[in-house]
Amino acid sequence: MNILILGSGGREHAITWKLAQSTRPLKLFVAPGNPGTAALAVNIPVDPGDFEGVRRTIIDHGIGMVVVGPEAPLADGIADYIEDDPALSGVSVIGPRRAGAILEGSKDFAKGFMKRHGIPTASYGTFTAETISDAVTFMKGLKPPYVLKADGLAAGKGVLILNDFDEAVDELKAMLGGRFGAAGSRVVIEEYLRGIEMSAFVITDGRSYRILPEAKDYKRIGEGDTGKNTGGMGAVSPVPFASPEFLTRVEDRIIRPTVEGLKEEGIDYRGFIFFGLMNVEGDPFVIEYNARLGDPETEVILPRIESDFFDLLEGVANRDLESRTVVFSPETAVTIMVVSGGYPDTYAKGFPVTGTERVKESTLFHAGTRSDNGLLVTSGGRVIAVTSTGGSMEEALARSYASVREVSFSGMNYRKDIGFDLKNIRQ
Ligand code: AMP
Ligand code: GLY
Repeated sequence: MNILILGSGGREHAITWKLAQSTRPLKLFVAPGNPGTAALAVNIPVDPGDFEGVRRTIIDHGIGMVVVGPEAPLADGIADYIEDDPALSGVSVIGPRRAGAILEGSKDFAKGFMKRHGIPTASYGTFTAETISDAVTFMKGLKPPYVLKADGLAAGKGVLILNDFDEAVDELKAMLGGRFGAAGSRVVIEEYLRGIEMSAFVITDGRSYRILPEAKDYKRIGEGDTGKNTGGMGAVSPVPFASPEFLTRVEDRIIRPTVEGLKEEGIDYRGFIFFGLMNVEGDPFVIEYNARLGDPETEVILPRIESDFFDLLEGVANRDLESRTVVFSPETAVTIMVVSGGYPDTYAKGFPVTGTERVKESTLFHAGTRSDNGLLVTSGGRVIAVTSTGGSMEEALARSYASVREVSFSGMNYRKDIGFDLKNIRQ
């Protein structure tokens, strides 16, 4: 089968890498891809937001399955666009239609969905510019810190956590006043949950689901989880505090009710669901849903899947996921994200990246790189995810850090403490 993977980051490189290991005869295409995917697949210079270009690619290359990496094309309806086109009949999409992607695309929808299905989440209210005074009254009833979330997609920047009441009111006004454009025309205000975060992932064909390995990512730029939020500076899987008892609670209270809830609401969801969770003294709460896999979580989840990943995707396409199995490796996988100096604020691009050929003990998943006349150069904030596996987290981390030290480019930065908070936690 010819498969088209949409996206250009470390997540899409990891998906391509995993599918390239399938024992099935697959031919892989990535749009637009990066120099990492170019080594495993055919890169097609089409942006995932260019639906007409995606359509042409599907037809020109006889694509039978499209795997959608990022959220934006899902929220914009790429699955609807492909599935509703008679000329593309028979093409399967791994990724929900717009009606399912709204779990990520609207925080207000997600909160309402959880409320309807009794799924544990922080208590909340949703407000607009017309109801600012109600929002202020609602906030007065909460204990600080105050959690403000733009309703729509805001590239990971739409959540503010503020200790000071007056500052929270000012920020709320700025959000409703258009700081995040239409994404902020509604704001969810919610109770602050105190605990430790992790993420769970499932793939579903809309009927049944398979749970993928869980992961913890490190979102802040600075060591000790300080400084600005980023797309993710590293990740670890498995998560030491995710005991079998905790994961059973996640499945019983969150995963199964979510998949059942989607069915009950007539949302035919075929794709990945990413559950951002808070472990509050052993009880899981949903912080957010995403309608896709995480980045850099994918770079540690897929290396832990020992069974054929295509088998799961085929289970979604054929709607017989119930008959498919997934086998995890007991090893730990970690990834360290190597980023451009200045990220997540402004940074320069185009610096030559050296030393990648010396890395033998880790897998390099390209994120923000491009090939400049055969020379590998930086082209984004997150440049390369350096993934290793090992019998313990410490062993995997030692491998990844040794590999990171082989790689070099001007201004290169990375967190030296990935996994720092997990070292003394054992199941
Ligand atoms: P989100 O984009 O919804 O994942 O939120 C970004 C980050 O804000 C999360 O990863 C959490 O660290 C934090 N966060 C979001 N909601 C809450 C909450 N209700 N309580 C505590 N932290 C939160
Ligand atoms: N690493 C977080 C995300 O993919 O949303």
